[in-house]
Parts: sequence; structure tokens; C-alpha cells
Amino acid sequence: MNDVRPLTARAEGPLAGTAPIPGDKSVSHRALIFGAMAVGETVITGLLEGEDVLDTAKAMRALGAEVTRDADGTWHVFGVGTGGFSEPETVIDCGNSGTGCRLIMGAVATHGFATTFTGDASLRSRPMGRILDPLAAFGTRAAGRSGGRLPLTLIGTGDPVPVEYTLPVASAQVKSAVLLAGLAAPGQTVVVEPEATRDHTERMLRGFGAAVEVAEAQDGRVITLTGQPELTPCRVAVPRDPSSAAFPVVAALLVPGSEVTVPGVSRNPTRDGLYTTLVEMGADITFENEREEGGEPVADLRVRGSSLRGVEVPPERAASMIDEYPILSVVASFAEGRTVMRGVGELRVKESDRIAAMEAGLNANGVTTSSTEDSFTVEGRGGDGVEGGAMVATHLDHRIAMSFLVMSLATRNPVTIDDARPVATSFPNFEPLMTTLGADFRGGTP
Ligand code: S3P
Repeated sequence: MNDVRPLTARAEGPLAGTAPIPGDKSVSHRALIFGAMAVGETVITGLLEGEDVLDTAKAMRALGAEVTRDADGTWHVFGVGTGGFSEPETVIDCGNSGTGCRLIMGAVATHGFATTFTGDASLRSRPMGRILDPLAAFGTRAAGRSGGRLPLTLIGTGDPVPVEYTLPVASAQVKSAVLLAGLAAPGQTVVVEPEATRDHTERMLRGFGAAVEVAEAQDGRVITLTGQPELTPCRVAVPRDPSSAAFPVVAALLVPGSEVTVPGVSRNPTRDGLYTTLVEMGADITFENEREEGGEPVADLRVRGSSLRGVEVPPERAASMIDEYPILSVVASFAEGRTVMRGVGELRVKESDRIAAMEAGLNANGVTTSSTEDSFTVEGRGGDGVEGGAMVATHLDHRIAMSFLVMSLATRNPVTIDDARPVATSFPNFEPLMTTLGADFRGGTP
């Protein structure tokens, strides 16, 4: 990485215009991985070209797939077939991406060779035990640093057994890793998820021709995959990312008089919790032209500057907005009254401890908060406004970085983030796109 890049953002007046958001990160990782496991050519349009996804593309090449990009941004993946990966010659570096790393671990776990994984300082601090436990049931072994952290070598099994696994945490990454491992195992692999998490893996596996049954049972959703399918290549049109859309949407809500349209955003119900919450807070958002694109429901969002009130966000909503709590806590800072977010303990093991990072940044900028291990409360400043003026540590976390840049558009004094580089992991054109809406970015002093 280049040198750290402090940054601040301001808005001189209302934001206006159209914000075409890049492709969905979760769908982009999966399109590359499933494409690499199909027989023949998968064509992907709208792929997110953020660092996280580019690292996954490199990993697919290292495992034997051919991955190419046309000048117009169309990607081609020539897959090697289920069970067809070959041993990589060197370490797989997943950069900042927990999703890329955990999904690829699942994909190689049922291949009879060893793969060594590493990542940046953020990824090297994140727990991998949650993946290694279910993968061990297939017959996979692993040796890593203490706490199952990277660098870590996974010794895959060439003779896997199918697995039945109940998720102990609501995690689409864990669910997906087990299903990906199940692809090369004989028989039926079953995952039970007590709480619904994002379902892109199930949707896309079906699109690639795998038999995936989903049943609602008393103890949750039961997902059954029939192993060793021949995956047939697809055309994948990646929808725009609702987690990235959250930043211009919230910017438009917070800067008075704004009106911004965000076209073609995924409205997959397993990703929609932020938008439900914003509407409950009084946000003026309309969902126009609801339609289906690339197997996902999408809509154009029209957002206007709004006065907001604090709400209680229930724990059962957490999985459907898990990446949006940092930006929601910014919204909550400007709202009238208190916002309480419950059931959010998973935020502590994301790219950073997001509860700790948001509390520190909000407190430094004049917002009172409190937290427990799995809840987070923000005392909204409402009509009093938010002071701002402080420097915020972003801990290599893209969503912390973008949340405080958006906050800075509406505070009395500019907020400076210590390092804008992580933004490129998920939203490489964040600054130019926000600039077209009327935001003004300036390099800060380290
Ligand atoms: C993701 C799942 C979520 C989310 C991450 C993307 C995915 O993580 O935070 O950004 O694509 O499956 P968990 O599954 O760990 O909650």
C-alpha cells in the first residue's frame, strides 16, 4: 500500500444528482468463485472492481481457473469444474477480505492439497475458527496462528464426507464456506441457519445448476445441497451494492435540501434492514421501478434531505444490515432522540471492532454513546447539530472510513479520517461519485 492518506469532506450546499453505485461485493466474490468451479466460460457484467474482489480473482487464477477482463469491464471466467482446482504454487493473499478468504477456504477444503492463506493486518487479526470447525467435519485439517488466525495452512481432503452443520453465529460467510466445501463432497451437505443471512450463495448455486433445497423448519432455514454437481457456466449480471448505496443515501438524508437518485440497487430482503430502519426513522426515500435484474430484486432509490428520529433496531434485523451499522450510527447522531442497536456483537469481529471504532470517532466529534458486548446506543443530537472537528482512526476499515466522511458533510466542523486508502476495497470510485453529487474532498494533515 502507498502512504497513509488523511482525508476530509464537506458539502457547501444540498447534494443533487444520480449516484450509480458499483456492483455488489458479496455477489461479485461468488460469481468469480462459482465461475471458477463451473465447466466452461462464465461471463460477468457489473463486477465490483474493488481490491477485495480483485484479490479473489487472483486467487481463482492461482487455483487453475483462467480469469480475464475486457476493456469494457466484462469479466470472463473459464472454470475447471467441481473438484478441479489445482494446488496453488504460493500463498493466497486475500488482502482485507474476510469474505474472499472464508469462501475460498470452503472451496479448497474438499480438494486433496494444501493451501496457505494470508491477508493484511486487519484480516490477520480476524477469527477463522468459525470456518475451520465445520470444515474439519469434512475431513479438512488446518494449522494457523493462535486463535485460528492467518497466516494459516488448510490441508484439504481428497476424500470428503458430507456434513450437516447448524450455524452457531448468523454468518453468510460460514454458511457459504460449508456449501462450497459440500460441492466436492458426495451426498447431501446440510446447513441449518437459525437466523436468515444473505442468500446469494443459494441463489447463485441454483443459477449454476446445482440442486439446492431450502426449507423453513422450527429451528430455522434448512439448506440442502446435493454434492458433486456439474456446475454449468452462466451469465451473471451483478446488481448494485446496497451496502455501498448506503453512503450516498445517508449523505442525501443528512444534508438539508438534497435530492439524490441511486439507481438499480439490490433490494434482496436478506440485505434490506438499513432501508427499513431509515424509513422508520422518518427518512424520505421512495423505491421506484421495482424489478428483477440478474436474479435479484432491484429498485431505483430517490432520497431527499430529512429530519430523523431515533429508533430501537431489533436484534432479528441485525443479519440483514450487518455492514450498515457504522453508517446507521452516523444517521443516529443527527436524529432527534436515542437510537439503540441490539444483537450486534458480530460487529466486534469485522474489518475492525466496529462498535469500538464508531464509539471513539463519534465521541471525539461530540456525540454521546454507550455500548455492551452486543449492543450500541447513540444519543442523537437532533436540532443541536453535531460539532465535528476531530480526527478519526479508521483501523483499515473501509466502512468506518466512508461513514465518517459522510458524517463530515453535515457536521459544524470538518471531520478528518486518518486514512482513506481502505475505501478502495469495496467502493473504488467513492470520492469521484460523491464529488459529482456536490461533496468536496480535501487531504487532511496526518
Ligand atoms: C458477507 C457476509 C457478512 C458481511 C460481509 C459479506 C458475505 O459477513 O459482513 O461483508 O458476502 O457473505 P458474516 O457472514 O461474517 O456476517
